[in-house]
Amino acid sequence: MIIKPLHQDMIGEVIDLLSQGSPYIWPRTASDYWLYSALFSSTCPVAPHEDTITGVVIAIRSQDHPDDIYIQDVMTHAHHRRQGIAKALINSVCAQGEAWGCGRLYLTSEPENTSAHHAWGALGFVNVPGDHRVNGVEVITDFKGPGKTRAVYELHLR
Ligand SMILES: CC(C)(COP(=O)(O)OP(=O)(O)OC[C@H]1O[C@@H](n2cnc3c(N)ncnc32)[C@H](O)[C@@H]1OP(=O)(O)O)[C@@H](O)C(=O)NCCC(=O)NCCS
Repeated sequence: MIIKPLHQDMIGEVIDLLSQGSPYIWPRTASDYWLYSALFSSTCPVAPHEDTITGVVIAIRSQDHPDDIYIQDVMTHAHHRRQGIAKALINSVCAQGEAWGCGRLYLTSEPENTSAHHAWGALGFVNVPGDHRVNGVEVITDFKGPGKTRAVYELHLR
């Protein structure tokens, strides 16, 4: 499988892919993806296949907590799921994090997103203890602001 850093030429295809991610993923603007490709492409890997993009991860190393890499979006095209694409993309971010000496990858997910919950567990992430449980998933109230209750998952790199 080919994994490449996000490049400006791929922005339209990435937006097309993420447009299919509802109800858990929505595309951001072309300007946002320009920023990601120009400023931190090494933590934004894509999986190109023939003339399209089958998967993407958007992640960024924290400037406030440089030990951390936050994964903002993970998406695999519906026709290409369960083929190890998310695994390969996350592994790419792990390798970059290890090269930088980072200690942790983390991400948030909506507790109803059972596919994501299974994927994060299979990829070695731990569901961080929260203040209550939804569908058996630990969640933290208002983690991303008022009304944005989320399940948090983390993967330690060392
Ligand atoms: C979650 C998502 C990114 C997983 O992508 P993927 O490329 O299919 O994942 P992988 O093939 O790398 O799966 C790795 C492992 O995770 C687990 N897994 C992934 N999807 C699963 C599912 N639907 N049910 C159960 N286990 C699953 C499996 O153990 C899998 O290994 P296996 O296929 O050898 O059993 C994908 O389902 C997706 O794009 N969903 C829509 C967008 C989304 O919800 N993103 C996450 C927002 S937080």
